[in-house]
Amino acid sequence: MVARPESADHQETDDICKVFGPDFQQSLSQFGIRERAAGNGQPEVKGQQGDGDGKDGITEEDQPLKADLILFVLRRVSGFSRFYWHALSYRLPALHMPGQSHRRDDLMQRDDYIEANRKMWDETADIHAAGYVAGLAQRVRAPDFSTFDDVEKSLFAQIGLKDKAVIQLGCNNGRELISVKKAGAGRCVGVDVSDKFIAQGTQLASLGGVDVEFVRSSVYDLPHEFYAAFDLVYITMGVLGWLPDLDAFFAIVSRLLRTDGQLFIYEMHPILNMFEGDKGLTAEASYFQAEPFVDEEGPDYLDPTQTVKSVSYWFPHKLSDVIGGCLKHGLNLTHFEEYGHDISAVYAAFEHLAKKPPLSYSLVARKTA
Ligand SMILES: C[S@@+](CC[C@H](N)C(=O)[O-])C[C@H]1O[C@@H](n2cnc3c(N)ncnc32)[C@H](O)[C@@H]1O
Repeated sequence: MVARPESADHQETDDICKVFGPDFQQSLSQFGIRERAAGNGQPEVKGQQGDGDGKDGITEEDQPLKADLILFVLRRVSGFSRFYWHALSYRLPALHMPGQSHRRDDLMQRDDYIEANRKMWDETADIHAAGYVAGLAQRVRAPDFSTFDDVEKSLFAQIGLKDKAVIQLGCNNGRELISVKKAGAGRCVGVDVSDKFIAQGTQLASLGGVDVEFVRSSVYDLPHEFYAAFDLVYITMGVLGWLPDLDAFFAIVSRLLRTDGQLFIYEMHPILNMFEGDKGLTAEASYFQAEPFVDEEGPDYLDPTQTVKSVSYWFPHKLSDVIGGCLKHGLNLTHFEEYGHDISAVYAAFEHLAKKPPLSYSLVARKTA
């Protein structure tokens, strides 16, 4: 049994009840959650927290599951808007006991976001299939097919691709990894959470005549056989923002690399999270916003004539989260550069501004031990 100090939990559950009304209060009481917050009941904790594999630290009482159950029911009750669903997700940790592991709840939340994003990407894959991917199906056949711009050409020349084992996380339709393979890499593995993009990648690699493995997985669920199996982890353009937990992500990146292996990130600059591509340099959000952006129905980023209907969640990580995450997990920076060109297609108009913010950056880090 763990000793349970007095806390603000009861006040917080009361606050939630004020927002969501007497029915919700009754539901909490039914599950014993308000009473626990008030100090009755002391759930036992099994296991240790914090080795990052996400499989330990589960409480015996499984109270987080009860909170998850309430969330599950509420999300399916009509009239409960997406905003509240989102707000409640964020308030849920308040329903947990101090001293008790939050790991199960964190995992449930993380998986909810990833599942929502996966559906959105599957929908997007269908939109891209007809035009964009059909065009790629012709281009990938060329022996010198390449998606690399000058930044990638220069950095891949420094990193050295020849015979290297490369894994790309968030590989989308695989066109960049096919380029890596055609540039002389050895084993190439592409990981993406979307079944449909993985199917497109498999088809494009076959048309391109290259041997590239594609794995349908969230980056958080990669098999242990991949640990210490790669010389290079490659991440480009619009991947990090889909990941709810950057610290856990960099722990995994570090595990994937052999000693002396390298990480290459070529990403949108996170300062862009403050702005909207079509609204210019008016700050729409704080650089330090912690909550994800919730994207509801809107135009596709490659084909704005098409509408993506699924809800998705974008996580605005700071540049210091990226650099700090690398350093914390033994990935020592050997290169970092910021650029005034857009790689996302979303902020292209910013390239022409006289007083523009940084639009993209590249980072190379080496695993030292
Ligand atoms: C904007 S695309 C960018 C990828 C690539 N650089 C490109 O330009 O095509 C982001 C990709 O990340 C994938 N993704 C999002 N969340 C993921 C997760 N948790 N695990 C693996 N892939 C994920 C999406 O399915 C999508 O294909």
